[in-house]
Amino acid sequence: MSYQTLKILHIAGLALTFMGLAGVLGMKMNGGGRPKRHWVFFVVHGVGLLLLLASGFGLVDRLGLMRGTRALPGWVQAKLVIWLLAGAAVSLASRLSRYAELVLLFFTALVVAGAWLAITKPF
Ligand code: HEM
Repeated sequence: MSYQTLKILHIAGLALTFMGLAGVLGMKMNGGGRPKRHWVFFVVHGVGLLLLLASGFGLVDRLGLMRGTRALPGWVQAKLVIWLLAGAAVSLASRLSRYAELVLLFFTALVVAGAWLAITKPF
């Protein structure tokens, strides 16, 4: 798969992950009732995470960062931590919807940090 296709998939995964998180947050803010097909946003979040990780490793391979026994560069390792946080964030969205503004700020910080790491590769 080409570098360009992988990057488009990476951005699609990013969008799905955070659309899922925002959807879960919005649903929980709407009170205790369970809307019909409430699982949609959880599935979108999960599919987005998988796509983000798979395309991320595809990009790592295309950029030749995984040759031999060398460790992954620090910025990729940091992105893996951000990916884990984006996975755990679904429980923040679900349990802390009363602090929705702060939760949204945290989601934004994750996206900014992930983009900054990929674009500047600071370490
Ligand atoms: C929530 C988590 C993540 C966010 C917000 C994120 C965000 C981004 C963005 C916006 C870009 C495009 C940067 C550009 O235009 O050059 C990008 C590229 C990239 N990401 Fe991620 N990403 C995440 C997770 C991951 C993971 C888990 C990996 C590795 C397993 C990864 C590896 C990469 C690589 C290798 C590139 C290409 C960098 C380049 O072309 O120079 N990302 N990421």
